[in-house]
Amino acid sequence: MEMEDKHMARRKVAAGNWKMNKTPSEAVKLCEEMKPLVESDSVDVIYCVPAIDIVPVVQAVKGTNVKVGAENMYIEDNGAFTGEISADMILDAGAEYVIIGHSERREYFSEDDDFLNKKVKKALEKGLKPILCCGESLEQREMGVTMDWIRFQIKSDLTGVTADQVKSMVIAYEPIWAIGTGKTATTEQAEEVCKGIRDCICEIYDQATAEAVRIQYGGSVNAGNAAELFAQGDIDGGLVGGASLKADFGKIVNY
Ligand code: PGA
Repeated sequence: MEMEDKHMARRKVAAGNWKMNKTPSEAVKLCEEMKPLVESDSVDVIYCVPAIDIVPVVQAVKGTNVKVGAENMYIEDNGAFTGEISADMILDAGAEYVIIGHSERREYFSEDDDFLNKKVKKALEKGLKPILCCGESLEQREMGVTMDWIRFQIKSDLTGVTADQVKSMVIAYEPIWAIGTGKTATTEQAEEVCKGIRDCICEIYDQATAEAVRIQYGGSVNAGNAAELFAQGDIDGGLVGGASLKADFGKIVNY
């Protein structure tokens, strides 16, 4: 297969990361408003929502093309872990995906790569599809260690994960300096790192796994820049924060 065909073979995936926004009733209202805008036969559409919104959002998107994901989960099956939610709870609520290792979790909740590796393995063991996030700080980019850092994150977070499991995952490259700042990475910067991640997957696993895994860009994706970003050979869609809460998300899905 030609490289072009392989790129075409990967379905684009547009995922919204709602973060800590929308009460259950607001979430249902947003789903209703977005319904006609996010229809697509060719792009996978996912809403990653606060835990308390999962059940009402699953109900609200029933019969549509929208899939639902959680924004976080814990590494244990059940037990005395006050405030946490398990993979089984997320699945039983009707969600299929879970964001793991978002930079806000890494920074504000001190989640390190050893812990995130446990989360990835638990999610996969249970049949949840991880959207694994990685990304460098501005300081790291300026020091010239971006790719070293990303490779460290990918290798650590995927320790003990099989090739078949990786094929079911989504990896999101999100430079921390581009998140919520309105400062998107240039198309070249985004493609360079997404390609670097695919090369890293090829080194750890093999060519087939590298070609199957979907790699998103995230960080100030909006209706104006999505088309150019998603046209790159190694960018298979986006993880979208702010713009996923507005009609813009429909434009991003139908870029
Ligand atoms: P942003 O967030 O689109 O608001 O920059 C992206 C993210 O944090 O996933």
